[in-house]
Amino acid sequence: MTQLSAARTQPSDGSKALYGGKGTRRITVRDITLAKERGEKWPMLTAYDAMTASVFDEAGIPVILVGDSAGNCHLGYDTTVPVTLDEMTMLSAAVVRGTRRSLIVADLPFGSYQEGPVQALRSATRLVKEAGAGAVKLEGGERSHEQIRLLVESGIPVMAHIGLTPQSVNAMGYRVQGRGEEAAQQLLRDAKSVQDAGAFAVVLELVPAELAAEVTRVLHIPTVGIGAGPETDAQVLVWTDMLGLTGGRVPKFVKQYADLRQIMGDAARSFAEDVVGGAFPQEEHSVH
Ligand code: KIV
Repeated sequence: MTQLSAARTQPSDGSKALYGGKGTRRITVRDITLAKERGEKWPMLTAYDAMTASVFDEAGIPVILVGDSAGNCHLGYDTTVPVTLDEMTMLSAAVVRGTRRSLIVADLPFGSYQEGPVQALRSATRLVKEAGAGAVKLEGGERSHEQIRLLVESGIPVMAHIGLTPQSVNAMGYRVQGRGEEAAQQLLRDAKSVQDAGAFAVVLELVPAELAAEVTRVLHIPTVGIGAGPETDAQVLVWTDMLGLTGGRVPKFVKQYADLRQIMGDAARSFAEDVVGGAFPQEEHSVH
């Protein structure tokens, strides 16, 4: 064992922890790699604007994903499919401006990388260069191997995304992936393929918990679960689901930590009643 690997396997005093550690500089993909070696779990949240991102950054969330879930959760589309690279670049730049410490991962939207590695590189370069993202995320396992390889060779860290891939909703729907022996073997092949291509982490969306646990054991890169059980190295939630802002039904795997929709609606109604009834503004809100 080298001195370096010996040092890495020593129990950590927690000072370097991604969440709750003492570090104040921007988190890098190397920090993420070292966290897996320490066996440390970490949280990731989505954000689509500077102000929300600044709250999560101040709360110590080490990785913020500018997900193309912005399509449903921010831009008013029905799915992620219509989201454009221009929109992702603009939203990602805002999130980068709102944060100091979090690693910002920006999603490559549908149609911006499927043509091949060169298109992927051109698109990812915009997210890194114009928006300032520290890494990009794209969907697909074996089918995205070459795209991931060229991005990584070009110096752009890639988070992969397998299992349910929402950009393929028209082909696969929103169904649990990896059920049954054949589908499980394909998921394992996809996971190894993105690792071999150089991805620094992989999102596992809506896959059976036992399979996600196996993928997490087999890979040396961290797995980030969403609807993938408790054994993945990290967990991600869409912020509007997690804080109860999303209207209508949310998936079973979401844990809601607040009810912002109720809080914001109540506040808006109180404001409206004050205006209509003449209770706002008062003398203290007036200038002379
Ligand atoms: O776009 C997104 O928010 C995502 C997460 C669900 C992982 O891809």
